[in-house]
Amino acid sequence: MKLKQAYIKGIGMYVPKKVLTNHDLEKMVDTSDEWITTRTGIKERHIAAKNETSSTMGAEAAKEAIKNAGLKPKDIDLIITNTITPDMPFPNTSALIANILGIKKAGVFDIEAACSGFIYGLSIAKQYIRTGEYKNILVISSEVLSRVTDWEDRNTCVLFGDAAAAAVVSESSGKSEIISIYLGGDGAYGDLLYLPGGGSLHPATEATVKNRMHYMKMKGNETFKVAVTKMSESALTILEKANIKKSDVDLLIPHQANMRIIKMVQKTLELSDDKVYINLQKYGNTSAATIPVALYEAVQEGRLKRGDNLILVAFGGGFTWASAAIRW
Ligand SMILES: CC(C)(COP(=O)(O)OP(=O)(O)OC[C@H]1O[C@@H](n2cnc3c(N)ncnc32)[C@H](O)[C@@H]1OP(=O)(O)O)[C@@H](O)C(=O)NCCC(=O)NCCS
Repeated sequence: MKLKQAYIKGIGMYVPKKVLTNHDLEKMVDTSDEWITTRTGIKERHIAAKNETSSTMGAEAAKEAIKNAGLKPKDIDLIITNTITPDMPFPNTSALIANILGIKKAGVFDIEAACSGFIYGLSIAKQYIRTGEYKNILVISSEVLSRVTDWEDRNTCVLFGDAAAAAVVSESSGKSEIISIYLGGDGAYGDLLYLPGGGSLHPATEATVKNRMHYMKMKGNETFKVAVTKMSESALTILEKANIKKSDVDLLIPHQANMRIIKMVQKTLELSDDKVYINLQKYGNTSAATIPVALYEAVQEGRLKRGDNLILVAFGGGFTWASAAIRW
């Protein structure tokens, strides 16, 4: 069987209207704009309205991605949603999004790889396109992290935000191609970044609510060190796998969690500032959504053109990590 090439045919994004600035946070917890800016690079983040959920935001992003790809909802064969904040344990978010978009015949499932979710999702879509099993696959990242953020915990609440983005992955007949993807993970780090309550281990009880177990917990400093190591390693691994030299990288889109982490990955790849896309200051860490949101904005701003060598690299809870080499 001759394998086909997969590429990203269209993209879309959605962020909620409400903006929460560092100055707003100064009124909520013992923090300062100066601390948040120097330690993370974040200035503001978007927060979902009461009636917005991962499915409604994901559907908005998906609508735009389908249109951008020149397709109709009926052309979609499979929907993969990456989220750690699904509307509910089940039905899955992809099913809810399909229902909003009026898609009746697509396969629907979610994956959970935290901040690495988009690249994990792309890796699955790529295989289905390569074999010819499906023609058009929606890979959606949608996160409403504000619902699982402890707004009394200054260690975490300054870091996260809400956003959604989507990509249509299709068969390529030209030069554009998802060249190679690398995935990794190590569950031994699970307790550095996690959300303990609400699953089969600690189902919701009065005690889990009282003990704030339905919010994200993070050991920031230890997470930081592993993030730098694994993101740098993943970036180098994908260059080797795809046979791309550091000097041939046109744009790096790293997971947007912390400016200092991004700068260290940039240094590893010896890239100048114009070859690294950063929009962390506007959105904070939106988990699986950071990379596709950045991808969308990089294209809009003309920072990424068809034919460019694009590197994606991510790291997140699990821990999981992943990287991708794409000829955009
Ligand atoms: C969270 C993070 C910004 C903290 O920065 P840091 O330089 O590691 O800071 P530390 O955690 O060592 O804390 C330093 C001090 O700042 C304080 N601090 C923490 N959050 C604060 C806040 N929002 N405002 C003011 N002070 C704060 C701490 O209490 C600590 O005070 P102490 O020295 O009196 O104990 C950083 O560790 C980080 O970005 N980690 C990785 C996060 C990440 O990538 N997560 C997602 C992975 S996908």
